[in-house]
Amino acid sequence: MKIAIVEDDINMRKSLEIAIGDYPEFEIRSFKNAKDALKHLDDSFDLVITDINMPGMDGIEFVKTLEGRYDVIIMTGNATLSRAIESIQLGVKDFLLKPFEIETLVTAIKRSDTVRQKVKTAPAKSGDGEQNGFLAHSPALEKLIALADRAARTDATVLLMGESGVGKEVFARYIHEHSPRAKKPFVAINMAAIPENLIESELFGFEKGAFTDAIEAKPGQFEAADGGTLFLDEIGEMPYGVQAKLLRAIQEREVQRLGSAKPVKVDVRIISATNAQLEQKIAADAFREDLYYRLNTIPLRIPPLRERREEILPIAETVLARNCERYELGEKRFGETARDELLAYGWPGNIRELIAVVERAAILSDGEEITPEALFLESRGLKRERSIASMERELIAEVLETCRNDHAEASRMLGMSPGVLKQKIETYNL
Ligand SMILES: Nc1ncnc2c1ncn2[C@@H]1O[C@H](COP(=O)(O)OP(=O)(O)OP(=O)(O)O)[C@@H](O)[C@H]1O
Ligand SMILES: [Mg+2]
Repeated sequence: MKIAIVEDDINMRKSLEIAIGDYPEFEIRSFKNAKDALKHLDDSFDLVITDINMPGMDGIEFVKTLEGRYDVIIMTGNATLSRAIESIQLGVKDFLLKPFEIETLVTAIKRSDTVRQKVKTAPAKSGDGEQNGFLAHSPALEKLIALADRAARTDATVLLMGESGVGKEVFARYIHEHSPRAKKPFVAINMAAIPENLIESELFGFEKGAFTDAIEAKPGQFEAADGGTLFLDEIGEMPYGVQAKLLRAIQEREVQRLGSAKPVKVDVRIISATNAQLEQKIAADAFREDLYYRLNTIPLRIPPLRERREEILPIAETVLARNCERYELGEKRFGETARDELLAYGWPGNIRELIAVVERAAILSDGEEITPEALFLESRGLKRERSIASMERELIAEVLETCRNDHAEASRMLGMSPGVLKQKIETYNL
C-alpha cells in the first residue's frame, strides 16, 4: 500500500515516517507541503494522510484539489477541528485528533485499506443512493417540520441556519417538495463551490459577447428555476458586489443577464442556507443587512445533532440496515457499548458524520455485532472511559426495573421530573 504523508512540521513528519516505516506493507512518501505533494501524486498512491494547518495551500484546499481521487485521512488539532468537519463534506471518512497514538494511525490506515478492498468487490446495487426524507424523528425536529410545512404553503423567503451536516439541504428540498411549486424545478447553487467571479453569471446568465468567453448566450439559475425554487447554499459566501443585484432581483422579480439591458421576469421562491453567523458578517460589512432581512422572512434554525440525541440511535439503525443490504453483509446490530459511544460522542459533523461513521462500521465489523472498535470514535477524541451518558442510562434502566416500569415512582426515586424522565427514556432507547 502506497501512502503519501503531507505535513509541514519536520519533527512530526520524521516521526511518522519512522513509525510507519516499521510496517513493511506500507510504502511511504512524505511531503512538506501540498504543492509538493500535488507534483508527485499519481495513480500508484492509495492513500493520502494530511495535516490541515500548513503554509501555502492548507489541508482542506488540498483535499478539494484531489477531487476524491484518493482516500484521505486528516490529522487535526482541536483548533482546526471545525475545518476537519468540513472535510467530511468532501468525502473524508476518518480524521485523527492530535495528539494520537501511532497505533491509532496504523488502525486508520488499515481501515481505509479494508474498506477500499471491500467496496471494490461489493456487488454494485443500484437504486440505493441518496434517499429523501427524514431518517428519524425527535420533538425538536417535529417542530421544525411543522414550521417547514407552514412555510411551504407560502412564497416567503426561508433562511436555513445550522452547523454543517445538520440537514439544511434536506429541509430545503422538503419545503420545495411540499410546496405548490413541487412540480417545477428545484435549483441549488452553492456560493462556496463556485469561483467568486463566476457567481454573478451563474445566477443571472449572460448574453453572447458579454465577456471574452461568452461565445453563446446562457440563461442563469434564476431563469432555470422559473416557477420553482432557487436554493442559495452558503449564502454568507456571496460576494458583496453581487448581493445588491440579488436583492434587486428578489424585489423586482426580474433579472438582467450580463451584457443585456432587457429585464426578464422570473417567478422563483428563494430558500437560502448558511452555517455562518450572518449577523457577524453584517457587523463586519461583509453582508448587506437589507438583503439579510429580505432572505430571512421565515428563519429556520436547525439544531445540531447533539441537541436532539434521541435521533442518534434510530438514524444509526436505519443507516446500518441500509448498508448491510447494500453490501450484502447479512444482519448486524450495535452492541451495548457501541450504543453508549454513539450517544456519548459530540457529532460535530452532525448527521453527515453519523452516517459516514455507521457506514464504515458496517463494512469494517466482522461479526454480527458492531463493536466500539468498528466505530473508531476514539480517533475523533472520544474517550474510552465510561461516559456519563452510559452511567445514567444504566441507572435509569435499573430504577425502572425496580419500580416495574412505573414511571411516576421511578421519577420520584430518581429525583427527576416525569417530563425529563420520559425524554431520557426516549433518548436512551430504554
Ligand atoms: N433529518 C435527516 N434525515 C435523513 N438524512 C439527513 C437528515 N439530515 C441530514 N441528513 C443527511 O446528512 C447529510 C448532510 O445533510 P445536508 O447536506 O442537508 O446538510 P447541510 O446542513 O446542508 O450541511 P452543510 O452545511 O455541510 O452543507 C446528507 O447526506 C443528508 O441526506
Ligand atoms: Mg449543504
